[in-house]
Amino acid sequence: YESLSVAELAKKLHREPSELIKKLFMLGVMATINQELDKDAIELICADYGVEVEEEIRIDITDLETHFEQEVSEEELRERPPVVTIMGHVDHGKTSLLDSIRNTKVTDGEAGGITQHIGAYQVEVDGKKITFLDTPGHAAFTTMRARGAKVTDLAIIVVAADDGVMPQTVEAINHAKAAEVPIIVAINKMDKLSANPDRVMQELTEHGLVPEDWGGDTIFVPISALKGEGIDQLLEMILLVSEVGELKASPARSAIGTVIEAQLDKGRGSVATLLVQDGTLRVGDPIVVGHAYGRVRAMVNDLGRRVKDAGPSTPVEITGLNDVPQAGDRFVVFEDEKTARSVGESRAMTAIQAQRSEKQRVTLDNLFEQM
Ligand code: GTP
Ligand code: MG
Repeated sequence: YESLSVAELAKKLHREPSELIKKLFMLGVMATINQELDKDAIELICADYGVEVEEEIRIDITDLETHFEQEVSEEELRERPPVVTIMGHVDHGKTSLLDSIRNTKVTDGEAGGITQHIGAYQVEVDGKKITFLDTPGHAAFTTMRARGAKVTDLAIIVVAADDGVMPQTVEAINHAKAAEVPIIVAINKMDKLSANPDRVMQELTEHGLVPEDWGGDTIFVPISALKGEGIDQLLEMILLVSEVGELKASPARSAIGTVIEAQLDKGRGSVATLLVQDGTLRVGDPIVVGHAYGRVRAMVNDLGRRVKDAGPSTPVEITGLNDVPQAGDRFVVFEDEKTARSVGESRAMTAIQAQRSEKQRVTLDNLFEQM
């Protein structure tokens, strides 16, 4: 953008528009409050106010997304773990399944390390990692999707074999379909006498999920989360499906990702669980998270251990932010803290003044780039 209105420029300079109009008049320019000023006029006024450009901000501060499109060469790409979300109807066993997976795959010694629940965790199967997102209930999933945050590579739909397809099962299927992620069906509670997996498969067929045995392409795995049965097979299927997706990321680039959850902690301040989606996040990194910013002060992994860095598909809990971001917010690492701060502050402003038009969101910083 090469122009700003008088009112917009006044706002940027923290001056009254009338003052600017007066100044412009003195400089020989007749202007009204809504008049668009060209670059020359803007420069004239800024020079008159002694406004200096301290730094160049190469990133459009209103659009963190642009930073997501960092150029990455093919050679930099490495395989990354799949990110899996577990969904399903109330009481069908989502939490039990997650617990069962964790118990099967996290060794006893490590299990003691799980001090707090961080909403996301990783397990290792045959030397390959899988990331599970815990909390995203349907609401959180919808919010994230509405914000364009694609965090999941694969959805597990849990259906209780004794209960069958219920309203939230259908909701979950629709979420997964809308997100265009592959679906694996886990038919749970197979240990129950009243379990009727055929009925579940029949019902799901009506929703477009047809088992391979019946000529479809949906993978169904019978499990018992309670007894830990079928869990290994389910994990194998997750790896199989994600290999087809050829999930890649570039550990070498600066980190980007999404907030899984965040809250204010009495002692530690703003605490955010982030899913690193690309690049490597490091302690000390200047970061913008939604409209919050800061430096990554400390990083804790899903086992409650302190870590110094976190690569693609890794969930970590960080502290060091000036404010509490929201689930679904994106994060971006910047080259230096000053830039992160200025971007963060601008984003906070933008959030406050959400009703401003596209054009008005042009910042002086962008404009000054060419000066
Ligand atoms: P919400 O979080 O409330 O939506 O429920 P959920 O889907 O997380 O279900 P949860 O894991 O809490 O399990 C609900 C109930 O089903 C609990 O009483 C579990 O013990 C029981 N349950 C879960 N899995 C199994 C299973 O494989 N077999 C049997 N018999 N019971 C199970
Ligand atoms: Mg639960």
